[in-house]
Amino acid sequence: MRVLSGIQPTGRFHWGNYFGAIRQYIDLQHEEASYYFIADLHALTTIHEPERLRQLTIDAAIDLLALGLDPTKAVLFAQSDVPEVSELCWLLMTVAPMGLLERCHAYKDKLAKGLPSGVGLFTYPVLMAADILAYDSDVVPVGEDQVQHIEVCRDLAGAFNARFGQDVFRLPKAKILDHSAKVPGTDGEKMSKSYKNVLELFEPEAPLRKSIMRITTDSRPMEEPKEPDGDHLYQLFRLFATDEEREEMSATYRRGNFGYGQVKKALADVSQRYFADARVRRDALAADPEKVNAILRDGAERARKAASAVLLRAQRACGLR
Ligand code: TYM
Repeated sequence: MRVLSGIQPTGRFHWGNYFGAIRQYIDLQHEEASYYFIADLHALTTIHEPERLRQLTIDAAIDLLALGLDPTKAVLFAQSDVPEVSELCWLLMTVAPMGLLERCHAYKDKLAKGLPSGVGLFTYPVLMAADILAYDSDVVPVGEDQVQHIEVCRDLAGAFNARFGQDVFRLPKAKILDHSAKVPGTDGEKMSKSYKNVLELFEPEAPLRKSIMRITTDSRPMEEPKEPDGDHLYQLFRLFATDEEREEMSATYRRGNFGYGQVKKALADVSQRYFADARVRRDALAADPEKVNAILRDGAERARKAASAVLLRAQRACGLR
């Protein structure tokens, strides 16, 4: 079984990325083969400062390694280091119906929020399909928001296979962790870099605590008993808490007579505890950039080997080469 996933370096990683995706990458790296990449080409649709993109890409690699990605088990690389994927993207573009891409919610949502959009953003799911198909991936661990893109990938692979009469591409499946489907941000909406409501994994403790204290809450009186499920502050707390802490907190909610400030403080404490070891590992890696670059170079070499075989197969099937 081959596992693959990607993550955009459009900002520093946040809790949504971790619980929605990265944690699964780490669990799945013990599978037969796993490929994880930093989607710097996708990030170009939003980041336009070259130095910032370069730095965020390196930071992303350091974060993933610090969180437990093991380069002796998984192949870790930057998307743009595998040019075969961009070539494959064009081949898939020739079978992609406009209507299919117009229905993709990532594009629709950005349009609706008045965020800038262009052809890159519109064809984003095609590049994502190329990412997945280039490595004959079987399973793609992602958060709920990416499931539609995996469906598009399956559609495009099916369309290409149907047009060229051969089993060129292997059809992948999405893998979602149930309870992490959608991590809420500080405003209760999906945590997302583009919505500016994120809590970053490795933000220094003091500003992170401040951001936690600013999480929006309702204005019901303190005494009123409250239902924890459905409350975004509790949803965040439960990601980090032990079973015991979780039960205790939900009992507090149901009893009433508590302040949200108290829950926020508890959230700051448990989240700090949760990432304490990763923070130490991150500091060590950040002090050794050459080591991180060497890991990315080695990953790119291994990834290109796999992707070039698939690209050749696709090119031959459609009359190229
Ligand atoms: P990206 O960079 O937006 O997010 C990376 C991963 O984090 C998950 N995620 C969340 N999960 C739960 N709750 C949240 N609030 C939350 N925010 C983010 C995402 O679902 C994702 O799994 N298009 C992809 C990157 C990509 C990719 C690929 C993924 C490019 N090519 C090929 C898989 C396969 C993206 O923008 O993810």
